Amino acid sequence: MSFNMVDKVKEHLDIVESFDSQDSKEIENFRIKYLGKKGVVTGFFKSMGQLSPQDRKPLGQIVNQLKTEVAQKVKSLKTHSKVSNSSSNVPDATRPGFQIESGNRHPISIVKNKIIEIFSTIGFGLSEGPEIEDDWHNFTALNFPKHHPARDMQDTFYLKTPENYLLRTHTSTVQVRHMETHQPPIRIISPGRVFRSETITARSHCLFHQIEGLYINEKVSFADLKQTIEYFCQSLFQKSKMRLRPSYFPFTEPSAEVDIYWGLETEVDHRITKGTGWLEIMGCGMVDPNVLDNCSIDSNKFSGYAFGLGIERIAMLLYQIEDIRLFYENDIRFLRQFKSVI
Ligand code: DAH
Repeated sequence: MSFNMVDKVKEHLDIVESFDSQDSKEIENFRIKYLGKKGVVTGFFKSMGQLSPQDRKPLGQIVNQLKTEVAQKVKSLKTHSKVSNSSSNVPDATRPGFQIESGNRHPISIVKNKIIEIFSTIGFGLSEGPEIEDDWHNFTALNFPKHHPARDMQDTFYLKTPENYLLRTHTSTVQVRHMETHQPPIRIISPGRVFRSETITARSHCLFHQIEGLYINEKVSFADLKQTIEYFCQSLFQKSKMRLRPSYFPFTEPSAEVDIYWGLETEVDHRITKGTGWLEIMGCGMVDPNVLDNCSIDSNKFSGYAFGLGIERIAMLLYQIEDIRLFYENDIRFLRQFKSVI
């Protein structure tokens, strides 16, 4: 019996050897005929169960040979058919196209671009600076006296070498760089990454994004600052009710914190505003004359305002995201939810 079967396998080996085709469908049918679940090779293996061990061995060997030869044949015919198909000039119009998945902008970039756009419509240009800074641009020029506790407001990552270099703790550094190299009128916004050595909680992170604004000219007043911020809040949040609370920053005098009236309509509104309806969105103030002098701008002739805001905070408000860490995890399921044209 096994002799018969070995002969049958040999016959198949001949068929396999002489099989030739460039048609991928035919090649696939050939493969299924031999290697499919109900194919020839499986059939031989199944029937081996009835044989004695002596007969089983030689048959097993030759069936395995058949299996390998079919696989090799299919492989070589497939490569060949690909080459010949691609060299053919006749396109197959029925073939489905490749789906190209387009990516999305990160929500932080979407919000950043939106803010840039809002300020650019009222004449603010873009100015950017380095992330590795020196003490002068991050602190001293901004009126942080040496050893003053104000430096501790922002726990700093210092570089081991060179000495006195650090990762900027805020984008106010760009004000200094811009004023050192330009004379008024100055009207800039400066987005960028900033770094602080803070404990990681749901609210704080070592790296985040800020946007700094600066306007310097003759006779710039606090009223100009207020109007600019009102315009910004209206454009971004469609909310214009705001209030300015006195605050302190070394580089502005007077300084203020801006709150917008968010409302108390939903449960989320209650939670994020801690039941008050008000939300803090940025710091601002009139540029301290010391800062102007440090940057070689005549403080008797010019005045100006500055403001700074955290992009994550704004993005969390706009998209109702309650955990800042989501911005940094790069979870595709999260990122896919944001669509933007800018
Ligand atoms: N640099 C401040 C911070 O990182 C933000 C800020 C506040 C910037 C007030 C300003 C300003 O320009 O006027 O917390």
